[in-house]
Amino acid sequence: MSQSISDPVIRNASGNTPFSAILQRQLSRRVVMGGALASAVTLFAGTGRAASAASASRIQHAPTPTLGFASLPAAMTDACVVPPGYRATVLGAWGTPLSGQAAPWRSDGGNSSSDLLHTTGMHHDGMHYFPLAGSSREGLLVVNHEYIDEAALHPDGPTLVDGRRPAEEVRKEINAHGVSVMHIRSTQPDGRWDVVLNSPYNRRFTSATTMTLSGPVAGSRWVRTPFAPDGKAVRGTNNNCGNGTTPWGTYLSAEENWAMCFVNRGEQPLHQARVGVAAQAGRYQWETAAGDASEVAGEFARFDVSERGTDALSDWRNEVNGFGYLVEIDPYDPASRAVKRTAMGRFAHEAAACGKPVAGEPLAFYSGDDARFEYVYRYVSDALWDPRDAKPADGNHLAVGHKYLDHGTLYVARFDADGSGEWLALTPPTRTQDGRTLGEVFGDLAAILIHTRAAADLLGATPMDRPEWTAVHPQNGDVYLTLTNNNQRTETNAANPRANNVSGHIVRWHDEPGSHRFVWDVFVFGSPAEAEAATNRSALTAANQFASPDGIAFDERGILWIQTDNGIDDGRNNAVAKAINDQMLAVVPQALSARTERRIDPALPAINSANQADLRRFFIAPNEAEITGFAYTPDHCTLFLNIQHPANWPASGTTDATVASAQAVRPRSATVAIQKHDGTPVGV
Ligand code: FEO
Ligand code: CA
Ligand code: CA
Repeated sequence: MSQSISDPVIRNASGNTPFSAILQRQLSRRVVMGGALASAVTLFAGTGRAASAASASRIQHAPTPTLGFASLPAAMTDACVVPPGYRATVLGAWGTPLSGQAAPWRSDGGNSSSDLLHTTGMHHDGMHYFPLAGSSREGLLVVNHEYIDEAALHPDGPTLVDGRRPAEEVRKEINAHGVSVMHIRSTQPDGRWDVVLNSPYNRRFTSATTMTLSGPVAGSRWVRTPFAPDGKAVRGTNNNCGNGTTPWGTYLSAEENWAMCFVNRGEQPLHQARVGVAAQAGRYQWETAAGDASEVAGEFARFDVSERGTDALSDWRNEVNGFGYLVEIDPYDPASRAVKRTAMGRFAHEAAACGKPVAGEPLAFYSGDDARFEYVYRYVSDALWDPRDAKPADGNHLAVGHKYLDHGTLYVARFDADGSGEWLALTPPTRTQDGRTLGEVFGDLAAILIHTRAAADLLGATPMDRPEWTAVHPQNGDVYLTLTNNNQRTETNAANPRANNVSGHIVRWHDEPGSHRFVWDVFVFGSPAEAEAATNRSALTAANQFASPDGIAFDERGILWIQTDNGIDDGRNNAVAKAINDQMLAVVPQALSARTERRIDPALPAINSANQADLRRFFIAPNEAEITGFAYTPDHCTLFLNIQHPANWPASGTTDATVASAQAVRPRSATVAIQKHDGTPVGV
């Protein structure tokens, strides 16, 4: 998420102890934490259809990988930069036809709204590669489209005619959002990838596609609308940022900054104010197209959620309550509907990482809520993991999703100063800090989930510095969380060197089996290399300085990939942004843990002056772009990432992502496929 759609308003007025203060107390007490975070390797449990039994066996016995590239020097160009021996190829850029029903992409912005139903959308973000028959040469690449660049989407930017957005422009914008499923194949002699035009797997989900509401909120009074009086369906998925996958081989798409697409100019109830529904006009003013002669079933009116009628079936007051969820998609079944899993909470979901599945234990999913001073959540299934569900006999993977994702408990994290923490249950019997129960305050579980942020406030959850992606170590199950930045932190404690945390950091934790407790530490602090040691606690140098970590993911080998989004409140006006474009770094945490001899002192981040050289810059983005999304083929020979909101990229007339255009181009977000020229695994 770039600054252009982030929520600038602090909506958490709970007064819960800021994470910065807890961190400072922890650092100053120099608590020694041993054990879990540095624990021994446990068995790899596989990733359903995304990993073959053979690959699981390979990983189980895999040695700790060694990075096989030198850290890239800084670059600030209109091109991607990869290490020597690698190539980077543009794939599925915005407007790439998925079927012959779409006209080819036009460089004048002239494609129609219906073209967008049959092409990739804009602003690629979270992503996953689903192999076909286990292949590393042919699969389904599922890509989120987080938001839009209206100036690039339309020939001359967005227009208002007599104060109203033209219906065709609004439909075009709605269709540029959502999720793409792209059938891709590597058939060219040199292994480059192409989209398979007209594949039956290709499909688009947009901000108008009908989806199923499932879980505790479905069918409740909160989501009954004129479109779905039974409260079991909703049109569209909005602002899909990061992603997750399930052990049964489905995709989870995270709805992040959806709230501001809706407007309520009247008095907003708590569940709207706490998430940031617009008070004057929706972000794109889609609501202004209401009443157009072509409007179907309130397709535009639904973005105005003001109470106008006598009840929820006579206006669109509940439309916004159908957003803010994790959306489950089965890419292998083109006829299936997407399902919003309401039990996993309703907030600005950044992404969702599944904990290491263990047979006979519940499944856990971790999701950050990306806004300043918001929280991090864990969902735990009621059902215990049965490895047979990775390949259900009837082939109905969304039914497996129903089993694990519709019945469970949502928790919010409290990080304690002693290096431990606790997951607090968002359930009706849970006591609030003032002695009531959440049931007494909000009502039933559906009401608590609709009010997820407000309920978390009452439990004393720890406000964080903009929680972004989570990633789970494939062998030891440690969970890593990016905290991208928070320039609103006003801690004046002189001992806290990270007040006004513009560079962000990464924390990690390890859940204690069978309890709601966890232990945590700081993995790395972002910082300019030139900053004093009190700020640059990880001793970063010109070779690896970074700021605003956002995307984070492990591959199955245990390499951690860190992506940055350093266009923050003042634009790219900070020391790191002035030195280098956004980037992706790599590090092998297991190798670092070995060096700390199984004991971690949180006064020193895991990456520190003794080992910082092991954090290496692998990729640099074109000017103004952020790097989003991470995927790879099972053989690790192709790695995919996304370039979002570039200024002047990709160059026309070539698929080489490392070529800088000689002239101005209409910018297109795109996937980039990274391969070695010799075809061997990437990164090592
Ligand atoms: Fe969509 Fe929080 O980045
Ligand atoms: Ca981002
Ligand atoms: Ca993000």
